[in-house]
Amino acid sequence: MVLSGIQSQVKLALTVDGEARAASLRQTPCCIWFTGPSGAGKSTIANLLEKRLHAQGRHTYILDGDNLRTGLCRDLGFTPADRVENIRRVAEVARLMVDAGLLVLVSLISPFRAERELARSLFAQGEFIEVFVDASLAECERRDPKGLYAKARRGDLKNFTGIDSPYEPPLEPDIHLRSAGTDADTLAEQVANCLVEMKQRLT
Ligand code: ADX
Repeated sequence: MVLSGIQSQVKLALTVDGEARAASLRQTPCCIWFTGPSGAGKSTIANLLEKRLHAQGRHTYILDGDNLRTGLCRDLGFTPADRVENIRRVAEVARLMVDAGLLVLVSLISPFRAERELARSLFAQGEFIEVFVDASLAECERRDPKGLYAKARRGDLKNFTGIDSPYEPPLEPDIHLRSAGTDADTLAEQVANCLVEMKQRLT
């Protein structure tokens, strides 16, 4: 049997490992994964959290769905298969960035439970923190910051999350934020406080 390139690939052992890179950056790297429907506030909260972490001297990076879809994931649309591939790619990039020693904030609708669990499986225990940004469909549709719900209701946008494409809420998120009625900076502060508590529990 002839093995394809992918099957025959063996991982190369590298001398400088994740632990060494994290030590030189003097931080405990992790992936903070924001999931929730469009308009729930994921990117706003992630952005404010990064600002806080950055001010504390942490080394961070944001992987945001909207931005990645202009580059790394520009070939992908919103069918279930394309979303699965989108989440897989972003999870792999996040894993590499955590291995590089960074605090990585991911902001993706990531509507499928199975794909979020696949993402979690790429990380060590305690390294992947799932943050559910919870807002009702009615609330997201009322906000409609990009006018996409209106477009989807008119039938001009297919496979829109919450309209004609499902969102599977996390059953046991590490952090559960209810975004209606609380300002984004307070929610970012709540995540920052949870991160400190989690780190204390691990050490
Ligand atoms: S995911 O489902 O694959 O995780 P992702 O977070 O990358 O989605 O992209 C979501 C962003 O794409 C939304 O914030 C919205 O601006 C835009 N978008 C465009 N079309 C759709 C659609 N059909 N469903 C959801 N979001 C869409």
